[in-house]
Amino acid sequence: MTAAEPFATPDGPDVLRVSGLHVGTGRDTLVEDVSFSVGPGERVGLIGESGSGKSLTALAIMGLLADELHASGDVRLRGVDHELLTAGEAERSALRGDTMSMVFQEPMTALNPLMRVERQIAEVLLIHGTRRERAAAAAAARDLLAAVDLPDPERIARRYPHQLSGGQRQRVMLAIALANGPELLICDEPTTALDVTVQAQMLRLIVDGVADRDAALLFISHDLAVVATVCDRVLVMYGGRIVEAGEVRQLLTRPQHPYTQGLLAASDLEAVDALGHLPTIEGSVPPGGRFPDGCVFRNRCPRGDERCTTWPGWTGTERSGYACWYPIGSAHG
Ligand SMILES: Nc1ncnc2c1ncn2[C@@H]1O[C@H](COP(=O)(O)OP(=O)(O)OP(=O)(O)O)[C@@H](O)[C@H]1O
Ligand SMILES: [Mg+2]
Repeated sequence: MTAAEPFATPDGPDVLRVSGLHVGTGRDTLVEDVSFSVGPGERVGLIGESGSGKSLTALAIMGLLADELHASGDVRLRGVDHELLTAGEAERSALRGDTMSMVFQEPMTALNPLMRVERQIAEVLLIHGTRRERAAAAAAARDLLAAVDLPDPERIARRYPHQLSGGQRQRVMLAIALANGPELLICDEPTTALDVTVQAQMLRLIVDGVADRDAALLFISHDLAVVATVCDRVLVMYGGRIVEAGEVRQLLTRPQHPYTQGLLAASDLEAVDALGHLPTIEGSVPPGGRFPDGCVFRNRCPRGDERCTTWPGWTGTERSGYACWYPIGSAHG
């Protein structure tokens, strides 16, 4: 199928549907023809090494791209009767923190350093009209802190972000993200900076937080082991494109794209390094501005040949497929 064709998940209307997403600077292409959907209650992972376009994809969906970047394509959210990329900023900011929200890798960049925790959460409730009275919003903020398992929410509520540990800040971010019961939660490397025990607790909170609401989760990570624990489905990105998509188990046991296979081979799941990073495979992602014609992986691919100077197109369905002339298991190589 082509990226522009409509698609549906078996679980009913999608919460998020992205078709033919392109992000660029005007001169350089950074994300190219990205299409996927996430249904209610579904947890979809987005993996790929540094620079592959994962964060830009998330930021484009949220309407948070830097001014110098442009997005085109079609992004739809359940309950909104039009495409979002062309919607006005007022509408987009009304959706953010309400219908859709995001947890970032580094919470200090997303939290207001000058505002106490309780007030930051209360503001999100007041701005979106979930609570109208300040006192009720403050009480709800403390409940949310308790819901993300922060011990002594009264005390945490009075603190400023810099007075919290990294793990506590991530929980505060999650409390803010979940405050208004979003239909879509995007987490961008939410646990990379945390130690293993705190990471496991945080992942549990994310999974429970979306399950409680039957929300859709888009979960970005370098860490294949984490994605395998959290997600039902995975999208593999490389050089700004999705190169493979599939159910977690299928992708881990029978990868089709040589890049996915390389990631798996290089990342003995038992031995993912302490930071949870995928070991690198030889070569590097094409830097922005040198988006090659043809397959983006061909310069690093053990199976590539002349044919790969032409983009192979997508084989399979949006939920399960790959972009490769010579998938693993085919006669070639
Ligand atoms: N404002 C910008 N202007 C120009 N290029 C940019 C800009 N922001 C990001 N890029 C480039 O776009 C590419 C994709 O960036 P992105 O942040 O989406 O990668 P990522 O997959 O999230 O990587 P990481 O795993 O390191 O977070 C990179 O090559 C990056 O340098
Ligand atoms: Mg990123």
